[in-house]
Amino acid sequence: MEIDFRLNGEDVTATTDNPTTTLLDWLRTEAGLLGTKEGCNEGDCGACSVIVTGADEAPRALNACILFLPQLAGRAVRTVEGLTGPDGAMHPVQQAMIDRHGSQCGFCTPGFVTTLAAAHARGATDHADQIAGNLCRCTGYAPILRAAQDVEDASVPDHMRDTAPAPAVRNARTFHPRSADELADWYVGHPDATLVAGATDIGLWVTKQFRALDEIAFLAGCDDLRGVAVTDDAIEIGAMTDAETLRAAIAPHHPSFAELLRRYGSVQVRNAATIGGNIANGSPIGDSPPPLIALGAMLHLRRGAARRSIPLEDFYLDYGRQDRQPGEFVAGVTIPRQADSLVCHKLSKRFDQDISAVCGAFNLSEVDGALRGVRIAFGGMAGIPKRARAAEAALEGRTRNAEALAAAAEALAEDFTPLSDMRASAGYRLQAAQGMLRRLATDAPSILAVRA
Ligand SMILES: Cc1cc2nc3c(=O)[nH]c(=O)nc-3n(C[C@H](O)[C@H](O)[C@H](O)COP(=O)(O)OP(=O)(O)OC[C@H]3O[C@@H](n4cnc5c(N)ncnc54)[C@H](O)[C@@H]3O)c2cc1C
Ligand code: FES
Ligand code: FES
Repeated sequence: MEIDFRLNGEDVTATTDNPTTTLLDWLRTEAGLLGTKEGCNEGDCGACSVIVTGADEAPRALNACILFLPQLAGRAVRTVEGLTGPDGAMHPVQQAMIDRHGSQCGFCTPGFVTTLAAAHARGATDHADQIAGNLCRCTGYAPILRAAQDVEDASVPDHMRDTAPAPAVRNARTFHPRSADELADWYVGHPDATLVAGATDIGLWVTKQFRALDEIAFLAGCDDLRGVAVTDDAIEIGAMTDAETLRAAIAPHHPSFAELLRRYGSVQVRNAATIGGNIANGSPIGDSPPPLIALGAMLHLRRGAARRSIPLEDFYLDYGRQDRQPGEFVAGVTIPRQADSLVCHKLSKRFDQDISAVCGAFNLSEVDGALRGVRIAFGGMAGIPKRARAAEAALEGRTRNAEALAAAAEALAEDFTPLSDMRASAGYRLQAAQGMLRRLATDAPSILAVRA
């Protein structure tokens, strides 16, 4: 197959027999561009960061190690080799890294400068968050953060303003739908195919488990599945919306959800990972299902011309088993508009760039001094993301005080029998979840909406 994209300002065609060839492998073995490094090959270290610009997308950092070549059709890629201007002038970020002594052995440095250059192009100033997905074993982060601050006011060099080419994939055995309709028509006849959305899970099936995928549909061209629409009644989220876009869109409505998403992977992971993938993979420790369930989200599924909508919590049947028919895909999810009274807590071994051991989402408001509309959902406490119905019942109608919260914490033991694994023991998980509940006593009252 042949995939056209733009690389460091030049149109290129990548030719490969294997649709799961990663951009990182292609850059290093075919394109002879060795600046992009391989550290972990699983999206964790950022050494492979490149800048990708799509038709309607600002430049964004992505991990090339879990980015398949066909995902680049219609996009422009800039590697560390493309940061220097045509006249040989260094990118402001490169100069600042030198001035601030931001590099020692240099292995991580290409990943840092591309990530920082992408952030600079977007005008982002939350520097620590921007580089949370880049690991450095020797320099330390302070000089790198100083370099990022130094360039805040520097203008973006002209050569960094990439435009995306027309998408083109030729001679492919893989399917590249341009809309949800095209996907629906095709998938119903190819129910065993793998749908590749952001590939932050599937990338690891390939790089870590060496799985060969038979039939594949790449959903990157389904623009009508991407985006967040806020209406009077609902917040509608397309399945192909990435976690970083959702974070920005949800922040004015449910800031605690946005803060939880800030701790979802790294900026590179969030730029790739889709909400549809995070829901459809059925993981018990995905970060978006607990808040979505607590907010009463409806999931929209599509199979051919048939569409149906179900409460998100009903989608998860058992570990590894969801209410999804062969040939049916996740089209989107809708949150009913409501006063914000969502509180989310994520517990992980590392604060940034780590999967949750326990993730709790609490949606409850106070009416005339009593808790009403209590919806609580947890990840990491069962084989599926799940509501805590006994704890909800223990709180409904009660006054928010230590006694009521202690009763609800007791009830959590009826709701869940958590497992022990490498992230946490069963006992620790239960205690942590109970602690999250008890914290509602001291969480600022303003967090909990007061409904007249
Ligand atoms: C370094 C790293 C850190 C991570 N950190 C976190 C974290 O903090 N929190 C967290 O929740 N997750 C985390 N993840 C996991 C991952 O980002 C998510 O599970 C992600 O949301 C998957 O979405 P995707 O678009 O990348 O899916 P893909 O990898 O493309 O697909 C995942 C699965 O979903 C299916 N699928 C995708 N879209 C659809 C659809 N529309 N309809 C039906 N099926 C579909 C695919 O066929 C596949 O089975 C991390 C991953 C990495 C690599
Ligand atoms: S090599 Fe570590 S994130 Fe890609
Ligand atoms: S400079 Fe050596 S790993 Fe960062």
